[in-house]
Amino acid sequence: MVVKLLFLWLLFCLSWAQEQRCLQSASSCDECIQAGSGCAWCNSPQAHIRCATTEKLQSTGCHGRHIYNPSGSIQVVKNDSGTDPADAEPLLLQPQEVSLHLRPGVRESFPLTISKATDHPTPEPIMDLSNVPAGVQVTFSSITKGNPQLLQVSVEAAQCPSTSGASNQNRTGPWSILITPRGFSVSLKLEITLLCECNCTGSHEENSPACSGQGTLVCGQCECYVPYFGKQCQMNGDSISPQYEDLCRTGPNAPVCSGSGICVEGFCECNRRADPKETYSGRYCECSNFDCPHHNNRLCGGNGRCECGRCMCNSEWIGSACSCSMETASCMAKNQMLCNGRGVCECGKCHCIPPYVGATCEDCPDCVGCQDHAACMECRAFRTGAKKDTCDRQCAHLNVEIVETKDELQGRLCKMRTAEDLCYFFFSILPSSGQFAVARAKEC
Ligand SMILES: *[C@@H]1O[C@H](CO)[C@@H](O)[C@H](O)[C@H]1NC(C)=O
Ligand SMILES: *[C@@H]1O[C@H](CO)[C@@H](O)[C@H](O)[C@H]1NC(C)=O
Ligand SMILES: *[C@@H]1O[C@H](CO)[C@@H](O)[C@H](O)[C@H]1NC(C)=O
Repeated sequence: MVVKLLFLWLLFCLSWAQEQRCLQSASSCDECIQAGSGCAWCNSPQAHIRCATTEKLQSTGCHGRHIYNPSGSIQVVKNDSGTDPADAEPLLLQPQEVSLHLRPGVRESFPLTISKATDHPTPEPIMDLSNVPAGVQVTFSSITKGNPQLLQVSVEAAQCPSTSGASNQNRTGPWSILITPRGFSVSLKLEITLLCECNCTGSHEENSPACSGQGTLVCGQCECYVPYFGKQCQMNGDSISPQYEDLCRTGPNAPVCSGSGICVEGFCECNRRADPKETYSGRYCECSNFDCPHHNNRLCGGNGRCECGRCMCNSEWIGSACSCSMETASCMAKNQMLCNGRGVCECGKCHCIPPYVGATCEDCPDCVGCQDHAACMECRAFRTGAKKDTCDRQCAHLNVEIVETKDELQGRLCKMRTAEDLCYFFFSILPSSGQFAVARAKEC
């Protein structure tokens, strides 16, 4: 139990850390803000850390006015009170139209009032949603019941859609969602836009000195004019000699930058991947953090990180895909022996020697004794089963103690099903004394 709790707590910490970690390797503002809801970008051309939490950026000297960290917003577009009795609907929704800018991972909420005409029967309306884009979730929670009824509408987008998809022209909306109370013709319209791209129009400087006067500074980064390149557009592509390329190969016939990058004055600049979490690294872009063995569909089993094609497993995990746990607590039997001494603990699981079975090799339904005595044990303890009518005659001679739970059982443990309710019941045999014990508690 303690181990389990500790494990859950660790998991919680890990997922929390994941949430807060921003992609320091992010090579653009868009990549950075897509990396997580807590990630901000530093626009300053001098910044050495660009992508981190706002606090981290500030602590590294990035001034607040240089920090780009878009947050969601809600704008009520239409909110008529519908007081004109001529067009009185049986139901009035307020507001009628809302425009939302969503930062993925951050939930935005607003109140929705539902007023019913008094003579109209008033069951709780069911909300029908239409045109909800993939990854966007709309939920309702009741604030007050009755008439008018007040709901809280919450909208959250899971993440920015990947840029690699074919339909990337319209990956951030705006999309229109209609929320309609079932059976009515009125609806609430939500206009949703995802904040997945940086608005660099306010941070846009042509012929910027930070770009050697040979490029435009956009969100703190240079976009170089042809033929210039390099981080500060300091290099001229027209004067590059091709022999530099050889410096970008691991051997005479090896591909330039391992085929995963371009050669710039003898140095590899590695390609970016559609998924910003996936990066190439190394002098020759020969390493990656995504090309490693998988287990259970997860890179390095989710128990390690991928470094240059090899899984570096977290402590307590081994194997080429970090699929094997070194933890043995789950193999520990009640008697403090691994697998009851009837098997070996591998990857956190007991491999039992037949005929033993069970998580710690504690069960043995096929062992002599279990099958033979099951019917008598069942009728003595529960008055059910094959011998329920002949119990007194056939089973009276057995020395049976009834205990509450299987934890109180000692000796060889038998786990059998009752015919009646198909639940498992447990009994034990002490071979030395011929003493039996049956647990009253079944497992269904
Ligand atoms: C809509 O207007 C009503 C008043 O008619 C106001 O009470 C309510 O808060 C408004 N709703 C929103 C979401 O602004
Ligand atoms: C995205 O698609 C919706 C309809 O699905 C359309 O109304 C909207 O204008 C499109 N936005 C862009 C930027 O193309
Ligand atoms: C981008 O930012 C500028 C000001 O910096 C603003 O005028 C413009 O409306 C913004 N564009 C979008 C699409 O938000």
